[in-house]
Amino acid sequence: MRQAHPASGHEGAPWWTRAVVYQVWPRSFADSDGDGVGDLRGITGKLDHLADLGVDVVWLSPVYRSPQDDAGYDISDYTDVDPDFGTLADLDELIEELHARGMKLVMDLVVNHTSDEHPWFVESRSSKDSPKRDWYWWRGPREGLDAGAPGAEPTNWRSFFSGPTWELDEASGEYYLHLFSRKQPDLNWENPEVRHAVYAMMRGWLDRGVDGFRMDVVNFLSKDVDLEGALADGPVLPGSSLGDGSASYVSGPRIHEFLAEMHEQVFAGRTEKLLTVGEMPGVTVEDAARFTDPARHEVDMVFQFEHVGLDQEGSKWARRPFDLRELKASFGRWQAGLASTGWNSLYWNNHDQPRIVSRWGDDGEHRVRSATCLATLLHLHRGTPYVYQGEELGMANFPFTSADQLRDIESLNHLREQVALGRDEAEVLAEIAWVGRDNARTPVQWDAGPHAGFTTGTPWIAVNPDADQVNAAAQREDETSVLAHYRRLIALRRELPVVALGDFTMLVPDHEHLYAFTRRFDSAAGPEELLVICNVSGEQLDLADVLPRVLEAREVVLTNAPAHLGQKDPGLLPAVLGPWEARVLRMA
Ligand code: NOJ
Repeated sequence: MRQAHPASGHEGAPWWTRAVVYQVWPRSFADSDGDGVGDLRGITGKLDHLADLGVDVVWLSPVYRSPQDDAGYDISDYTDVDPDFGTLADLDELIEELHARGMKLVMDLVVNHTSDEHPWFVESRSSKDSPKRDWYWWRGPREGLDAGAPGAEPTNWRSFFSGPTWELDEASGEYYLHLFSRKQPDLNWENPEVRHAVYAMMRGWLDRGVDGFRMDVVNFLSKDVDLEGALADGPVLPGSSLGDGSASYVSGPRIHEFLAEMHEQVFAGRTEKLLTVGEMPGVTVEDAARFTDPARHEVDMVFQFEHVGLDQEGSKWARRPFDLRELKASFGRWQAGLASTGWNSLYWNNHDQPRIVSRWGDDGEHRVRSATCLATLLHLHRGTPYVYQGEELGMANFPFTSADQLRDIESLNHLREQVALGRDEAEVLAEIAWVGRDNARTPVQWDAGPHAGFTTGTPWIAVNPDADQVNAAAQREDETSVLAHYRRLIALRRELPVVALGDFTMLVPDHEHLYAFTRRFDSAAGPEELLVICNVSGEQLDLADVLPRVLEAREVVLTNAPAHLGQKDPGLLPAVLGPWEARVLRMA
């Protein structure tokens, strides 16, 4: 059985409370063979970058065999590596090289759905009598309508990638469910054969040497199905004939049972240090505390989505202004909700989110300072931080202006759908440029050479034109760089128990620009307290009236202002924060 969280004590706490995870999205990390696509050998060739950064774990987005309809999240063989990325031997080598440097490898686990080209689905689709028919969600047309007639889909649900969640199979006259693309049919987790096939596959990867899983939309596994096997319509979405089915699949009725069973079948009794993180759109704080309660043996931590929806209204494409006070309210609730039971994951970025420096920072004049300010804010919270490739360099959004620059199915489907509804293409492209997933998916900027050193060939998606300025080579030896600041932040978590385990108290919740909080930890050596202050704005901020406690600070632990780097004496720092300045101060 895995360890429970102890009440205090650095040493006894689970290892991942001190860990920082780095996400590699393989298609865009590093290309070793010049075909324009990142690959496993490319990753292995860059491990010194990760070791130098100091991360403990690499989460690798899917490298399994896949038709690549959704960039690898549509898997046709869970047991093999896609030729785009290399071979199983390359993966073994990556694992070995990571382990040799004291780092772990967490694989992506995508088992809400498979590819429609997975042999399980091919078999399931082959006939209504197939022994695997019930491995997926097959349903006849809505009562009173013929298959294929408008509105005949079994439910009115809208898919995440536009259009209905049901696809008609002409041969059998039945529809199958796909919450994502039509090439990603949902597995039926009600069927124990499905569950046990997945558990066997997972055990195989652990036996091969991987150190855990990041579980894709794992709180969608259990669908709310009635005794007759029916799924219910959801409320109709504004401006659409389709409905929101999420009440039927977000943290559905059997999800805790399934995750506990998975733990029992896959993880229980293993003595290796493993990590499990469940991606859980729509999860509530209360449910997250249940999912991550060590006594329940479900998952170690979850990815929640509340904060990344704060500048969106209704749909991900509809923008509303970002308000720092809302971020404080949200993060504050999550910190409090998981304070005594459970554990947070901390992230700004991943392969689905726009770049944070463009989103809530300033990717122009204050790029370095805003990237390091936001990094400090996040990493000093209680939880396990995740760094997404390029975030440690302050990589920014791509200036997308035309459809041929896009590669992501979600963005391309959205563009097609909205233009068909009569909207102006430039307006839809502006939405995509702001929040589309391709922003995160442009190649990592290694140096100022051709294609940013990502490939010697033609990259599968264009490199950001700012690569001559923003790249790893330019930052490696520069102590004032974003990279150097991430290195310091990561080291701090390992050094100071208060960063990993301290209690969290939010300060000045109503201040528009100042994000401030304390962390407090009672160690054997006495109480430790940090005060973290971040000016989330491009204006100067006078602290004297707002937060007089800052004058009591005893030591400067960390700062992102080049003029103050290395300064330990807080008395020598002005009681004014410059634009995007962040400080971590020792109070006790
Ligand atoms: C969440 C993944 O992060 C995203 O990239 C993917 O498109 C969907 N799940 C479907 O697998």
